[in-house]
This record gives sequence, C-alpha cells and structure tokens, in this order.
Amino acid sequence: MKIIRAKDYNDMSRKAAGIIAAQVILKPDSILGLATGSSPIGIYENLIKGYREGDVDFSACTTFNLDEYRGLTADHDQSYHYFMYKNFFDSVNVPRDRINLPDGSQPDAEKECARYDAAIEAAGGVDLQLLGMGLNGHIGFNEPEDTFPKGTHCVDLTESTIEANKRFFASADDVPRQAYTMGVQTIMRARKIIIIVSGQNKAEIVRKAFFGPVTPQVPASILQLHPDVVAVVDEAALSECGDLLK
Ligand code: F6R
Repeated sequence: MKIIRAKDYNDMSRKAAGIIAAQVILKPDSILGLATGSSPIGIYENLIKGYREGDVDFSACTTFNLDEYRGLTADHDQSYHYFMYKNFFDSVNVPRDRINLPDGSQPDAEKECARYDAAIEAAGGVDLQLLGMGLNGHIGFNEPEDTFPKGTHCVDLTESTIEANKRFFASADDVPRQAYTMGVQTIMRARKIIIIVSGQNKAEIVRKAFFGPVTPQVPASILQLHPDVVAVVDEAALSECGDLLK
C-alpha cells in the first residue's frame, strides 16, 4: 500500500482527484468504482472543475457505486443515487446509461445483489475503486464481522454506522437499517484502489487498518493484501501512525 500524505481535507481531495483524473485521461473508457459520504465530496468538486476546464472527459466512462440504502428510492434525498447526481453526475458527462448503483427499491435482496455483481462483471470489472473508511474500519457497508463478506449482499447496519449517518436524516429512527453493498471480494477485485481518509477522529482506525493485523474485525485491513492501493490520508488522520510511516 502506498500512503500519500496530504496536509488537510482540501489537499487530500485535490491529490485524490488528480489520481482519478489521470486514470480517466490514460484510459477514457475506465470503469470507475465510486463512493458516497463526506470524504469524497471535495474529490467530486475537483473532478467537476477538471471537466469544466476541459482537462478530463467522462463520456466513455462507466461507474459503479459501492452501496445504497435498502428501502430508499432513487429520488429520496438521502439515497446514494440522489447524493451522486447532486454532487457529481449532474455536473459531468458520464452517460446516464453507464451510471450504476444498487437499486435500494428492489425488495428481493438476493436478486438485486446478483444482478449488480453480474453487471460489474459484464462491464469487465472495476479499473479504479474509490473508497472512504468508516470509524470502525468499514469499507462500503462491510461492517466488522467474523469473516470477510464476498460479493454484493444485503447488510444490517451497525449501531455505530447508524449513529454516524444520522446527521444526514431527521433523526436516528429515519436511518434505514439495511443496505446493499459491494462485498470485500467485489472491492478487492478492482484493479486499482484509492482510499481517502481525513480527520482526527479516524486516526486510530487508520493505524489499525493500515498497520495492524489483517482481520475482518477491521474490514479495511484487507486492503494491505491488494497489489495496487493508494491511500491519500491527511495529517490529522495520520497523527497516530507516528514512526510507522518512516
Ligand atoms: C460510502 C461508503 C462508506 C463511507 C464511510 C465513510 O459509499 O461506502 O463506507 O465511505 O462510511 O464515510 P465518511 O466519508 O462520511 O466519513
């Protein structure tokens, strides 16, 4: 794993957006794996700027998002569909028919998850997967467990994730209890991975995930085994890694 140190959130966002832009410039028909949450918003802003300035063109790209809440329709303002259109797709030229997210409105979890994995496979697999990391080390909605989950599947969200995500809803009771998410195996199949982490509150989990033992109790720790991972992490999130970085 290559760790790129960023000064702060803005610097992390610029550096990570540069890596994604380079991917699209080098391979215009890239299959991009995308993420939601607070961490990637600055990346999307930088990519939109690059698109407007003519530096990067998404017209041949295909995208697959990591996850979606089960039970929310695409037009729900807290759905990840809505988030992605608002923060990225409405402002760039990814063809609408090449934008993919799990469909949270599909009640048959097994069928929807199988459809999603098949669509990723049919597209040729993800070239570059963008990830954020939860406070408990989750990636996508793969929460700490006894084993690493595999393909796209339905998960019950943990209390800590519901608690962390309630800031986006009227109350914790409104946060959906389940989500469809790419599994760890789906994520690990991406040819390249870029993970971004910012903020003091993630310092402890950064140390565990990137320098601790590989364990499903810290799902992001599996990334240590991937051959092509870049972590773009700001100073605050790296603050507990100390001499491990030297
Ligand atoms: C989002 C996702 C999550 C987030 C993680 C961090 O699609 O899959 O794993 O990346 O919860 O969220 P933020 O960036 O809000 O701290």
